[in-house]
Amino acid sequence: MARDTSLFSGRPSELVGRQVAGYRIEREIGRGGMAVVYRALDLRLERTVALKLLAPELARNDTFRLRFTHESRAAAAIDHPHIVPVYEAGETDGVLYIAMRYVDGSDLRHLLDRRGPLAPSTTLRIAAQVASALDAAHEHGLVHRDVKPGNILVARGTDSDHPEHTYLTDFGLTKKSLSLTGFTSVGQFVGTLDYVAPEQISGRPVDGRCDVYGFACVVFETLAARPPFRRDDDMALLWAHQYDQPPPLTEFRPDLPAAVDTVFDRALAKSPDDRHDSCLAFVAALRAAVAGREDTGHPPTVVAGAAGEERPQPPPRWAEPVFRTPGPAR
Ligand SMILES: Nc1ncnc2c1ncn2[C@@H]1O[C@H](COP(=O)(O)OP(=O)(O)O)[C@@H](O)[C@H]1O
Ligand SMILES: [Mg+2]
Repeated sequence: MARDTSLFSGRPSELVGRQVAGYRIEREIGRGGMAVVYRALDLRLERTVALKLLAPELARNDTFRLRFTHESRAAAAIDHPHIVPVYEAGETDGVLYIAMRYVDGSDLRHLLDRRGPLAPSTTLRIAAQVASALDAAHEHGLVHRDVKPGNILVARGTDSDHPEHTYLTDFGLTKKSLSLTGFTSVGQFVGTLDYVAPEQISGRPVDGRCDVYGFACVVFETLAARPPFRRDDDMALLWAHQYDQPPPLTEFRPDLPAAVDTVFDRALAKSPDDRHDSCLAFVAALRAAVAGREDTGHPPTVVAGAAGEERPQPPPRWAEPVFRTPGPAR
């Protein structure tokens, strides 16, 4: 990272054991284009947290700072079982930080890389949880803008009916529209372009339906092991999101009924007006298509995994729930 503040100088391991704003850093969990996430101990409450330190150049970007403050507050105000609770957001030594619940599990990016595509039933269970989080955020006037597998954290669920508990994280941490293609001071790419909606690319105003698009890209990848669009370079990828027809999911998952293609065509429509109104409406339509039912427009009240949801058995590798035996996934 940039070498202009004490917190970001040197190798990340140098922070281990150090105290940052009332937190003692225990180990690095992961890093993205603009932040490093550590497992840390909140010394006041003696609880484990995930402490995210944002790249110093973001603290210098006034637009980002304003949004960060505003959206951290907004996200913290949403009390939702599938949104990672934010405990504190602040600034220390010129570095913006967020302390949040430590989720002991794996992010969806990691899961897909390790296990390949997931079973339709597992996908639907995870998707329904993420969709409820996104819709709740939208009801609070908050648009996520960066729905991607790395921002979906999957932990062990409560029982065999709920094998996974999924959390959405990182509200308000995207840079806006064209700065999506920006680079940090060390030349790392800020974010991925695999899940970005056409209206984000063209800088038009966004609402919750931009998350419907990004979320549908994620669900597509969860089932197909690849996002809807793959191109050799970023410009071609941006072009594809704006103008190209997505390939049918059944090209990669011939075990699924053709009705799923219609659902993705709608969720991935270029114009927000042509998409599902909400993320849960998209998941309900997908669930109905997978089950060979007609979507009534009313999501069933039964929990995911209940009778009637399962398709004919997929290959065994896909049929496994994310967690099978006790113990953390990593
Ligand atoms: N609250 C959390 N609990 C546990 N792990 C987390 C938490 N937040 C983020 N992580 C992990 O840290 C990694 C890096 O996060 P981040 O900097 O947001 O990058 P990205 O979202 O681009 O993957 C994530 O992929 C995730 O695995
Ligand atoms: Mg993230």
